[in-house]
Amino acid sequence: LKEQALEKLKEQSTLQQLGDWKATYLGKKGELTAALRGMKDLSAEERPVIGAMVNEVREALEQALETKEEALRRAEREKRLREETIDVTLPGRALPLGSEHPLNRLIREAEEIFLGLGFQIAEGPEVETDYNNFGALNVPKNHPARDMQDTFYISEDMLLRTQTSPVQGRVLRANVEAAKQRGETSPQPVRIIAPGRVYRRDDDDATHSHVFMQIEGLVVDRNIRMSDLKGILTTFTQQIFGSDVSIRMRPSYFPFTEPSTEVDVTCYSCGGEGCRICKQTGWIEILGAGMVHPNVLEMAGYDPEEFTGFAFGMGVERIAMRRYGIEDIRHFYTNDVRLMSQFKSRV
Ligand code: PHE
Repeated sequence: LKEQALEKLKEQSTLQQLGDWKATYLGKKGELTAALRGMKDLSAEERPVIGAMVNEVREALEQALETKEEALRRAEREKRLREETIDVTLPGRALPLGSEHPLNRLIREAEEIFLGLGFQIAEGPEVETDYNNFGALNVPKNHPARDMQDTFYISEDMLLRTQTSPVQGRVLRANVEAAKQRGETSPQPVRIIAPGRVYRRDDDDATHSHVFMQIEGLVVDRNIRMSDLKGILTTFTQQIFGSDVSIRMRPSYFPFTEPSTEVDVTCYSCGGEGCRICKQTGWIEILGAGMVHPNVLEMAGYDPEEFTGFAFGMGVERIAMRRYGIEDIRHFYTNDVRLMSQFKSRV
């Protein structure tokens, strides 16, 4: 029986077949078990002799089975590894990656620049109170300056902010409140930017959009001067556009700054001829700015005798158009993949 079983074992070539073999010889209904059962018919002298023999055979068979099983498993594993070999030199399959929107990208870069200049980033809501958007900025109800910004009103006292400037009052008042809580007589100085979306009732065309982005800036401290404003803006524009860019400041008017100015950067991208971005003037306006009006400081709780400051509000689309040579502001909001896919992110 032993010889026959071992002979048969050699012929088995898969794990499945091994299982069958095991059932035939070692299983409950197998031949060896049958032999053990037959022992009851044996005489007392024969029993231990035969029993020992059966046990020896079973051990030998189990041992042989184990060896064979292991060999088969190893062979199967090797076969699988061979079949699954990966050619690591094959080029990878490119996944369709999205791209960062040019406006978000510009805001992110601007944030990095201003963080490097010691600014913090503040935020305010797009749905604002009439008071924050106008009143706190020295524009009382019925003031003619309201005509400068056609406004989407939600109710008599709520509107879609027309500028990021309402963040100025929010930050100033929060500082005054914090100083009061701490029992300090003077509020902390301020050095923030506040990027965000703003809304105006404009008819959309190549240079106007009823929704656009601004980055507000506000610095309030002791002895802040107009030259500080010019220095910060020069540093910023050169980091964004390159060191060959100049700025110029034109006198202007905003109710919440005095004096006020509008700032242009040189428009090199056009080379002068037929440029639709700067309309062939060589300059493109990118922001409004000025020294914070004493009324704005006072209304927020800052003493204008102690503190002075400057503020600016830049048009993100304007800067992006100048930087990337985009001629129509509507491109930023129509999400044409042919334009967007040109702004693959740096990661
Ligand atoms: N809020 C002004 C605008 O949207 C820009 C501005 C900001 C001007 C801060 C002066 C100071 O036109």
